[in-house]
Amino acid sequence: MATLKMTIDQTNRISKINKEIYGHFAEHLGRCIYGGIYVGEDSPIPNIKGFRKDVVEALKAIKVPVVRWPGGCFADTYHWRDGIGPKETRRKIVNVNWGGVTEDNSFGTHEFLDFCELIGCEAYVSLNVGSGTVQEASEWVEYMTSSNESPMTELRKKNGREEPWKVKYVGIGNENWGCGGNMTAEYYSSLYKQFHSFVRGAEQQIACGPNGNDCNWTETLMKNIHPGQMRGLSLHNYTIPTNQWHRKGDSVNFDEKEYYDTLAHTWHMERILKDQKGIMQRYDDRKFIGLIVDEWGIWTDVIEGTNPGFLYQQNSMRDAILASINLNLFNENSDRVKMANIAQMINVLQSVLLTEGEKMVKTPTYHVFDMYKEHMEATLVYSNCENVELMPQPEHRFPPRDTEHLPAVSQSVSVDGEGKMHITISNASLDQDFDIDCVIPRAEFKSASARILTAKFNAINTFDDPDAVSPKAYDGIKLDGEKLAIRLPACSVISIELC
Ligand code: AHR
Repeated sequence: MATLKMTIDQTNRISKINKEIYGHFAEHLGRCIYGGIYVGEDSPIPNIKGFRKDVVEALKAIKVPVVRWPGGCFADTYHWRDGIGPKETRRKIVNVNWGGVTEDNSFGTHEFLDFCELIGCEAYVSLNVGSGTVQEASEWVEYMTSSNESPMTELRKKNGREEPWKVKYVGIGNENWGCGGNMTAEYYSSLYKQFHSFVRGAEQQIACGPNGNDCNWTETLMKNIHPGQMRGLSLHNYTIPTNQWHRKGDSVNFDEKEYYDTLAHTWHMERILKDQKGIMQRYDDRKFIGLIVDEWGIWTDVIEGTNPGFLYQQNSMRDAILASINLNLFNENSDRVKMANIAQMINVLQSVLLTEGEKMVKTPTYHVFDMYKEHMEATLVYSNCENVELMPQPEHRFPPRDTEHLPAVSQSVSVDGEGKMHITISNASLDQDFDIDCVIPRAEFKSASARILTAKFNAINTFDDPDAVSPKAYDGIKLDGEKLAIRLPACSVISIELC
């Protein structure tokens, strides 16, 4: 078995890991909202004011810090007045992006913000730029947040909510380079500034950022919009197993080659963050503008027999490793990455929960969020681990990291307010275990405990076998003064706490 040397320098404190890096995205798409979060008060499924009890408890347990809503592409077709007032009079519309199904608007502004209060998270509302107006957007934010005497405040009170809600983040449009209006970066920058001038009431305004690593989009926005005018620039990047949109790959039936290909594609996030941070740094060296990765995750073909517009896929041990790699990358780049939202929370793409009628199951990805939650609001400290490259690099390619690259080990380390250290580490190899010899100079920890998530690479949790992939207490670590020995099995994610 190979031994890898690792160093942690707890005196080298790099950046605060914003809790919002562990954020979620919930769109009016398939069964994310309806059936996933919301079943209505008259449902036989146990609920609190229409919100599923099992889902609320599961989300509270991982301390969901922020939810982005109502889309996605749906956001730029959404007119908020359709979703307020008595439910029976709410307008029914067609969800043109996602399956052409009827949207009855029974989950609207009040329901979303009440849900955020119920699970104790920040609200991130995406405003409609593509097909909405500046007035509509500014009145919506006023409706949600204003305590002054005004027509919007009166309307909110009439609809049953006396006090304003707190809306920490608003997004000015979604994917305006694509489904949000097919705009150029120049055109969008001007429109952004117009919305920015009239939308008041949210703490932070986030501009629509690039599609993957589109450097031109970012450069144009950073050049045209002053740091005082935006607190965040979003970024969307999905991992597609085959890298082909017409046949993305199955969420359960995939082989070892596709497993490795998928994880190599997901490491592209490292390159994207490096390039995007580089551009932002040139215009904003004080790091006032955060990089907001508000859509990320694996996107596979839908489960056979389900509505192709509903984006329902399974979630395997591979996806847990993928989540661990991305979350470690976000932690490592938390000097600039201030929020990330996995797509999507329930029943859509890389979900943390799946539901069917009254049943609910936690996915392997859920467990990674659970194992990583101690990083929230902690301080990232320097760590470095020797590594093994799993993707053969053709000799003529130089430098290798410009092409596909798949390190076996991914890790991040933080120290929290009480001085506890949390290490999260994963091994993508399917056949190599590693012994990690870790040195933490001047460490004075008295105890160490760990949890492990490991299973066959395509193992999943089902409604009949919900705990097939679930974390267990792990005794493969040993703390001895400044030395920490970690046995890191193939295809595993480990979280360690040192106190
Ligand atoms: O998450 C599904 C879709 O992916 C979102 O609606 C859109 O923003 C992105 O293209």
